[in-house]
Amino acid sequence: MRSTPRPGAVGSTVRRGLVAAAVLALGATAAVATATSASAAVACKVNYTASEWQGGMSANLTIQNLGDALNNWTLTFTFPNSGQKVSQGWSGNWSQSGSNVTVTAMDWNKSLASGASTSIGFNGTWSGSNPAPTSFKINGVTCNGTQQSPSASPSAPVSPTPPVSPSPQVSPSPQVSPSPQVSPSASPSTSPPPPGTHVDNPYVGATGYVNPDWSASAASEPGGSRVANISTAVWLDRIAAITSGSAGNNSKGLRDHLDEAVKQDAANGSTPLTIQVVIYDLPNRDCSALASNGELKIAQNGLARYKTEYIDVIAGIMADSKYSNLRIVTIIEPDSLPNLITNVSAFQACQEAESSGAYVQGVQYALNKLHAIKNVYTYVDAAHHAWLGWDNNFQPMVNLFHQVATGTTDGVKSIDGFIVNTANFGATVEPYFTINTSVNGQSVRQSKWVDWNWYVDEQSFAVGLRNALVAKGFPNTLGMLIDTSRNGWGGSARPTGPSTSTSVDTFVNQSRVDRRIHAGNWCNQSGAGMGERPKANPAAGLDAYVWIKPPGESDGSSSQIPNDEGKGFDRMCDPTYTGNSLNGNNMSGALGGAPVSGHWFSAQFQQLMQNAYPPLS
Ligand code: GLC
Repeated sequence: MRSTPRPGAVGSTVRRGLVAAAVLALGATAAVATATSASAAVACKVNYTASEWQGGMSANLTIQNLGDALNNWTLTFTFPNSGQKVSQGWSGNWSQSGSNVTVTAMDWNKSLASGASTSIGFNGTWSGSNPAPTSFKINGVTCNGTQQSPSASPSAPVSPTPPVSPSPQVSPSPQVSPSPQVSPSASPSTSPPPPGTHVDNPYVGATGYVNPDWSASAASEPGGSRVANISTAVWLDRIAAITSGSAGNNSKGLRDHLDEAVKQDAANGSTPLTIQVVIYDLPNRDCSALASNGELKIAQNGLARYKTEYIDVIAGIMADSKYSNLRIVTIIEPDSLPNLITNVSAFQACQEAESSGAYVQGVQYALNKLHAIKNVYTYVDAAHHAWLGWDNNFQPMVNLFHQVATGTTDGVKSIDGFIVNTANFGATVEPYFTINTSVNGQSVRQSKWVDWNWYVDEQSFAVGLRNALVAKGFPNTLGMLIDTSRNGWGGSARPTGPSTSTSVDTFVNQSRVDRRIHAGNWCNQSGAGMGERPKANPAAGLDAYVWIKPPGESDGSSSQIPNDEGKGFDRMCDPTYTGNSLNGNNMSGALGGAPVSGHWFSAQFQQLMQNAYPPLS
């Protein structure tokens, strides 16, 4: 899969229009001053509320800034009992050493104006008794609700304000606000809901299904046992996969996986289990690329076969009452609806997908059948920032998602959320610059790499898209997922700080952790590493970081390889290919020696482990 992004939809006239807008915004905002945390007088209040149940506990903390504006904050506290442990935190980076807990801010909640508050939280292991911590510090200063002078050694816990951007320069895209507007969706309240309840966020308080097929491939690699127990998705990439497994060496059908999931669930006490299944067999699949073309064709009755031989069969199995306690997350048709936004005019197979209505009707059919099952969750694929992040693509995509949803039986409620970056390589967060960063008076949007996009990474894109979807009429419970299985970009080529260059192109190229040659490159990217491990509620508006593309499974063969899966040879997977207009006529950046998509690619798996970020321990 992985068709190419189409910044090409943004014409040069439009681009010039945007330059003018950026300059005007610069004039209007240049006077905004920023307080530095080093000189700020810190005063704060922390409110801690917790609930516990047999098997776990959960706490919410509200940090209120009663002092000067903060550019960044670090919260520290100590658990009274040695058995108290954070198992999973949200809205901050949580770490624990002994009983001491440290939380650093996320990009979106690190600045706290005077008087402002932010909420964070964690799930913890149950330790018999879970007394509340009695004292909290922000940037080393005890929070006692009154104003204090800065502590003697302000240096210690204050992390420096992230790089550059002397002041905000460019107004963000009109339709979305850059910062999240929602608080993270519910942490478990008093006790976990009864099994099988349709909860807001299926990842909260749950463990993830470990696919034994993928796990065995991973474990057979040297060093692979470090990741072999991570939850990855099951791909139903053809009708036969429902009964006998998908591409490569995967052997389990859907029932085998669900039966195994029931076993893993039973072994886990009262903690619910989430299993992720990718629905991926639309007729004319992967219409703008070749590597993941599928078995069904619109011209050969493909839509009818999709409904009866694929979706009906899957829904029939998922609805079996033996599986009703599982949380079954479905990832619906990667790339399909985004292809209708950007690739119709250039690709005949996409044109046919649009004019016949097959993609829209296929997705609607899948939503109707799957959403009708109470313990099934639907997440529709929304490509990635370097595909939809331009105005000309973004709003039409929002409109199409809305149109698709409103055409289903349950309307906008039939979609639980959307997923970005499926099987792609976009960084979750670029740590050293944001869309508002300017260099020497030039916005990063003007760099070749960003190319007038409104987003520089997947998390800001996911949040922006969510805001626009909610504004369009989707419920506020909508949750976003990011596929982080291969977007880590660690290893020796990872920048360790922002560039000091005053040229915007050099600055962006030296600062970005996404080391691809071009953000339109999508096949087996050389240098990539495994990304953030799966985690619930990582930021406001996000349901989870997830591993959907199983690391080590190829995106496409580097040369033509005959196969019976309908897979073609896409030159974007050939390391010698010099590109086309969709990737700015750059090299493909693909690793050589790759097998057909979905098949095990040992060399890639090794590189993904080596360049994992956070690194593997
Ligand atoms: C690709 C392949 C598909 C495989 C999936 C996960 O999209 O086409 O066969 O299941 O990746 O690796």
